[in-house]
Amino acid sequence: MSGHDNPIKMTARKSGPLKGVADVPGDKSISHRALILGALSVGETRVTGLLEGQDVLDTAKAMRAFGAEVVRHGAGSWSIHGVGVGGFAEPADVIDCGNSGTGVRLIMGSMATSPISATFTGDASLRKRPMGRVTDPLALFGARAYGRKGGRLPMTLVGAADPMPVRYVTPMPSAQVKSAVLLAGLNAPGQTVVIEREATRDHSERMLRGFGAELTVEDAPEGRIITLTGQPELRPQSVAVPRDPSSAAFPVCAALIVEGSDIVVPGVSQNPTRNGLFTTLVEMGADITFENPREEGGEPVADLRVRASALRGIEVPPERAASMIDEYPVLSVVAACATGTTVMRGVKELRVKESDRIDAMARGLEACGVRIEEDEDTLIVHGMGLGGVPGGATCASHIDHRIAMSFLVLGLVAQKPVSVDDGSPIATSFPVFEGLMAGLGAQIDRDA
Ligand code: S3P
Repeated sequence: MSGHDNPIKMTARKSGPLKGVADVPGDKSISHRALILGALSVGETRVTGLLEGQDVLDTAKAMRAFGAEVVRHGAGSWSIHGVGVGGFAEPADVIDCGNSGTGVRLIMGSMATSPISATFTGDASLRKRPMGRVTDPLALFGARAYGRKGGRLPMTLVGAADPMPVRYVTPMPSAQVKSAVLLAGLNAPGQTVVIEREATRDHSERMLRGFGAELTVEDAPEGRIITLTGQPELRPQSVAVPRDPSSAAFPVCAALIVEGSDIVVPGVSQNPTRNGLFTTLVEMGADITFENPREEGGEPVADLRVRASALRGIEVPPERAASMIDEYPVLSVVAACATGTTVMRGVKELRVKESDRIDAMARGLEACGVRIEEDEDTLIVHGMGLGGVPGGATCASHIDHRIAMSFLVLGLVAQKPVSVDDGSPIATSFPVFEGLMAGLGAQIDRDA
């Protein structure tokens, strides 16, 4: 089921207390945006703390194909010599975005209002994911998309030669869709307006402003109204990428459920559009303290001190879903180790991620002996208490990094080891996962 040529089977075993400092890598969402906005500025943007996961490396390669000079100077330290808004060259070859929905959708937006064409593809997971959610609004600017049935990759996008500004209400809570429209709006004359009924991660808005674009956000009864004035001259920036709260989620959740653990995860974003998991964990009874609150790279951050805790199931408010959308897989593992039932509603977006994450978690947790209920928009986990999960299964990762890492976290506390059929996708977002977890005392190994 891996779909990869060289699957890496991995196994996690019951581990002693996790201790130490977990330095998680840079934020994936912010890393993609820094490369793309750097490429759309005239002059040199410097980035530190860039996530060097495969998803981001694929976006760096794509920016080179569109004419930007992208150079790595050292670990996490990169520069981008941009070509300016409207300055993209037509790529000479197919753009392969690998596993990254964020990469392909943001890049499509960034070229959709230039008079060039580009053909996009990706791995077996990305080729299953819907692109209509971005090509529909991009068509309003005048771009045309030619893809496979159901709006799937490979797909050619023909940019609008004479783009129109757009007013668009996003039909689903999606920062990727919002960002694709805003990036397209950069090269359209006049004002492009995006309205989102529910707030999603706001890194594009923050960073567009940082690069000098005129952008306003108004909270109105119909939702967040984001207005961007087109055709700015973006000014190159120094971007310090904060650490990724979605990666921090894995050591944090592991420490909560492995008895006796006590770890520190420094510099974790507390951006309210990203921190829903931490709010949820605290409601479940987690012992997390938020120390040294400060600002890093334009984002509020804190050092998280996390101690193992007895957790109880809760009903996660559906309106919180957007602020923790990538964290439901690992939350469902925590829920399996809590007492009582955890109800996660309003989560149907999980079905169109790197995998159908409701199905992937439900099947794997069931194989490990956990009772699950699900429907199109809901996942319910019946907790078995600390040490109560039998484990002893090999779970399919479905080319999905977060599914693989979630089951490996479960293996640290299950009675019998838990394996994943393919841990190779972990490199897309968290290339240092194995070393970092081993440093805390987690027993996670590659099978010979
Ligand atoms: C992301 C937005 C989210 C998230 C993804 C990263 C982004 O996707 O799941 O990992 O960087 O904009 P959606 O926009 O599809 O919700």
